[in-house]
Amino acid sequence: MNTNHDRKPGTARHTAKWPLAVGAAITATLLTGCQGGQRISLGDQASTYNHEILNMGIWAIVISLVIFLGVSAGLFYTVHKFREENNQNAPQQFHGNNRLETALVFIPTLIVILLSILAVRTMARVNPVSQQSLSVEALAKQFWWNFSYPSAKVTGGVVANGNEMIVPIKQTIAVTTTSADVVHGFWAPNLGGQRAAIPGSQKTWNIGTEREGVYQGNCTQLCGSSHANMRFKVVALPQNRFDTFIKDAVAYTAPAPAAGSAEERGMNVFMKGTATAPMACAACHRVQGTPAAGVTGPDLSFFGTRRTLGAGMWEAMTADHWMAPDAAAHLHAWIKHSPVVKPGSLMPRYDGGEYMDKGKMIKGGTLSDQEIDDVAAYLRSLKLPDEADYWAGIPINGTGKIAGGTK
Ligand code: CUA
Repeated sequence: MNTNHDRKPGTARHTAKWPLAVGAAITATLLTGCQGGQRISLGDQASTYNHEILNMGIWAIVISLVIFLGVSAGLFYTVHKFREENNQNAPQQFHGNNRLETALVFIPTLIVILLSILAVRTMARVNPVSQQSLSVEALAKQFWWNFSYPSAKVTGGVVANGNEMIVPIKQTIAVTTTSADVVHGFWAPNLGGQRAAIPGSQKTWNIGTEREGVYQGNCTQLCGSSHANMRFKVVALPQNRFDTFIKDAVAYTAPAPAAGSAEERGMNVFMKGTATAPMACAACHRVQGTPAAGVTGPDLSFFGTRRTLGAGMWEAMTADHWMAPDAAAHLHAWIKHSPVVKPGSLMPRYDGGEYMDKGKMIKGGTLSDQEIDDVAAYLRSLKLPDEADYWAGIPINGTGKIAGGTK
């Protein structure tokens, strides 16, 4: 710590402050990590899957320790017994030792069998998909997740949500992962192992948790420029709240805005575009109960209930929700020029700038700040009934509970 020896006397006071500066930097980093959201904590085991893997890991470590101690004991014994000072005469010569060779084959075989039994037993426990499972499809796209519920049928499709996966607790959930473009990876560390999402392949596996909460998820395969911005949340609810969510989501029809309201102006821009922005939002996004039926981008049916934006790049976890100044600014910037704030986003720019579309630079549309705020107002109005607000009162790792309501 004492680095004063080659410094001029006048700089000594600065030197003494550096541990403070490092401490402040570390604190700032840690705080940033928690800002508005949550840490990924491998130590927080929230599922039977993780407990099974942990138990297997502990047994594997115990077996390894026994092997390590056995081999070490043998090594020290041999080194001691056969050291030169104890063995002045030439060693006894012999060919073959059946007992030793049998032991050397038998013991490793036993170890492999033991580890195999452990692994197969754990796989059998974590892999089967029971008939009673709730099914959720996780479709990965550059750079976001579409979570849909095949059993929750609505006009023109099924209930779907972008980047927020709602599941009940105390139930096996069969997740089917697939991808629409490149290979992605589904990973919610507190709930289980990661699974590749591969185009053309549908893999079904189980997750489940006994504990309500919000669990952080990330894409784990390097999939392009916004790989790190391809996050999601798993919101685990008590069964009755989950049932309410599904019931209300199936019954959902986007609320009709009042005549002359900002929401109504926003809806018109959303559905039809404008003279300077002919590419309407509805071309790529779906809103249940409206003519908007695009499937290229995330389903926005209940965007107003969601608390994450841009596949988890921004969060609005306060009671003010997307009205909070920071969150509102993020939403505004997102609509205005999504590819500027999220590299590789396939959404057009609406600030008149150029963006990359299918390998070509093309010029975006232009919306005024007022028009963008109108669209934001319309999006905020797309809300499930309060009873189906899956965020309200749900604990997040380390950061307390989500504020209730969406006012
Ligand atoms: Cu998708 Cu990384």
